[in-house]
Amino acid sequence: MWEKERVLSDNCTVEINEMTRAKRVKKILPLHRGLEEVKNLKALNGIRGIPRLMDYQVGDGIMHLFIQYAEGVPLNQSQQPFDALFLDGLKVLSAMHERHILHRDICPRHLLVDETDSISFIDFGSATAHEAQDSIVGTIAYAAPEALFEPEKYNETSDIFAYVKTFYRCYESRLKSFKPDHLNVLAKALALNQADRYDTAEALHSAFVRCL
Ligand SMILES: Nc1ncnc2c1ncn2[C@@H]1O[C@H](COP(=O)(O)OP(=O)(O)O)[C@@H](O)[C@H]1O
Ligand SMILES: [Mg+2]
Repeated sequence: MWEKERVLSDNCTVEINEMTRAKRVKKILPLHRGLEEVKNLKALNGIRGIPRLMDYQVGDGIMHLFIQYAEGVPLNQSQQPFDALFLDGLKVLSAMHERHILHRDICPRHLLVDETDSISFIDFGSATAHEAQDSIVGTIAYAAPEALFEPEKYNETSDIFAYVKTFYRCYESRLKSFKPDHLNVLAKALALNQADRYDTAEALHSAFVRCL
């Protein structure tokens, strides 16, 4: 039996299993959004760093999703060193893109860091399978320019942009201690023009590792 442990937000609560003490998140969404998120989580099932979909129930116009609980705090509250965390998250992002899913709302509150310094991506409610989309989604402070002005051009480089911008902002006070080579790598990922960025999370990972 699962019982409510605490409220996370308007539509999310943590539930705990009385017997196993396992935790899950119950997320309530309008049916159409729930269906999207279920589809995306199913496509991503088994990737380390992405909480797994445990169950879902369709009600009257709404959907209940039961998602594995990811331990940890949002990236902006984490005190972990940059390099290992940044590279770990790029592996997750790369695996997500290999399955042709774009997250579309990478921001500090959607990257959770646990005590073992592993990173989890949450909230696949804005994510889409690869095909073009014409609506604006995301969190403006972290979004690539095309995400705001030309959403049909959103692609992997746009997710990578938001990921790097998120880290950049969360580590702003420590950037002075970064190697210039590393700052150049980050700057390329943040290029205004999509064509000037790294094509893949893997390419960014390799470029960053080369300068370690
Ligand atoms: N799987 C999860 N593990 C831990 N916390 C989660 C999980 N899913 C959501 N949360 C928490 O609940 C908040 C809201 O969840 P989210 O999926 O972002 O919903 P919304 O679509 O309403 O933004 C998140 O910012 C996070 O704090
Ligand atoms: Mg969210």
